[in-house]
Amino acid sequence: MQAIVIEQPGDENVLQLGSAPDPVLGPGQVRIAVAASALNRADLLQRQGMYPPPPGASSILGLECSGVISELGEGVSGWSVGDRVMALLAGGGYAEQVVVDAGSCMPVPPGVDLVEAAGLPEVCLTVFLNVFQLGGLEAGGWLLVHGGGSGIGTAAIQMAREAGARVIVTAGSEEKCARCRELGADVAVNYREANFAEAVAEATDGAGVDVILDSIGAPYLEGNLASLAVGGRLILIGLMGGAKAEIGLGALLMRRLQVMGSTLRARPEAEKAELARAFLARFGDSVASGAIRPIVHEVLSLEQAAEGHRRMKASEHFGKILLRVG
Ligand SMILES: NC(=O)c1ccc[n+]([C@@H]2O[C@H](COP(=O)([O-])OP(=O)(O)OC[C@H]3O[C@@H](n4cnc5c(N)ncnc54)[C@H](OP(=O)(O)O)[C@@H]3O)[C@@H](O)[C@H]2O)c1
Repeated sequence: MQAIVIEQPGDENVLQLGSAPDPVLGPGQVRIAVAASALNRADLLQRQGMYPPPPGASSILGLECSGVISELGEGVSGWSVGDRVMALLAGGGYAEQVVVDAGSCMPVPPGVDLVEAAGLPEVCLTVFLNVFQLGGLEAGGWLLVHGGGSGIGTAAIQMAREAGARVIVTAGSEEKCARCRELGADVAVNYREANFAEAVAEATDGAGVDVILDSIGAPYLEGNLASLAVGGRLILIGLMGGAKAEIGLGALLMRRLQVMGSTLRARPEAEKAELARAFLARFGDSVASGAIRPIVHEVLSLEQAAEGHRRMKASEHFGKILLRVG
């Protein structure tokens, strides 16, 4: 099959269209003829050799895809050949075929474009796990999301809005802030010009937010802790700004704060299947109705993967960059 192959880790130029063996279908898995895959920030790290795939996962990049089921593994029930699916992957998406545990697949509803659906699984399941399951965001609560224009941010805005929560985001330009507001953010702060902790205090009348979804890490830790309400939860899912910081433990005690870290990729398949089931039970109707939709910055061809990585590194995008495969 055709796939993006990497001979040696390195810059964008190592992403070359080549051929790779067809993946071997195991029990409990389905084979998907991939329609599209989507870029995630972690792909940039993996390309450089800094985020190796978990044991047993494909070494090909790509944490999600959409497509059509072309073969069922032994013991798979509930799916048929020809079904339109979107899937969370531990790797392998930048290719014509993937095999994945059947539990990591979700149906693509009739009104959702098959190519665009590739932009949903990773961001929706990450936000659901961290903001709703770990963070416990409720209707009427406040969420702060850093990087509102990211794939993760655009999903978080929509899901929080659907849940009846209020959302504050940070983003690096006025244009991205405006687009976040259009998508449903109550407040969007240009972090290059304003202090987000001050903006949070103003928006919440000094009370702070209930949940923070943070992918910046060290430089935002102090401001994040200052922005949490009593009993608030800070969920760390990325460290784009750095990994080492001092923490004022007094605030954690006195204001009963929780700081959690979380990754999705290396979780056992059974946990991912349960996560996908719970996400569909809570937000499946919103996906089917289009109230939660992939925010697509652009659709590139598979052989343009290097160009996609360059654009993501430059943070020019708003939402998801997709790679059309079929
Ligand atoms: N732990 C997990 O399971 C998990 C799963 C998925 C993703 N993630 C993480 O979530 C993060 C987002 O992923 P993604 O694929 O959605 O990334 P993405 O689309 O590439 O977006 C990242 C965005 O962050 C913004 N940003 C950079 N520095 C910032 C700052 N100081 N303050 C606020 N925003 C800033 C940039 O936009 P502007 O600066 O232009 O606003 C950039 O576009 C990554 O760190 C990724 O590794 C973690």
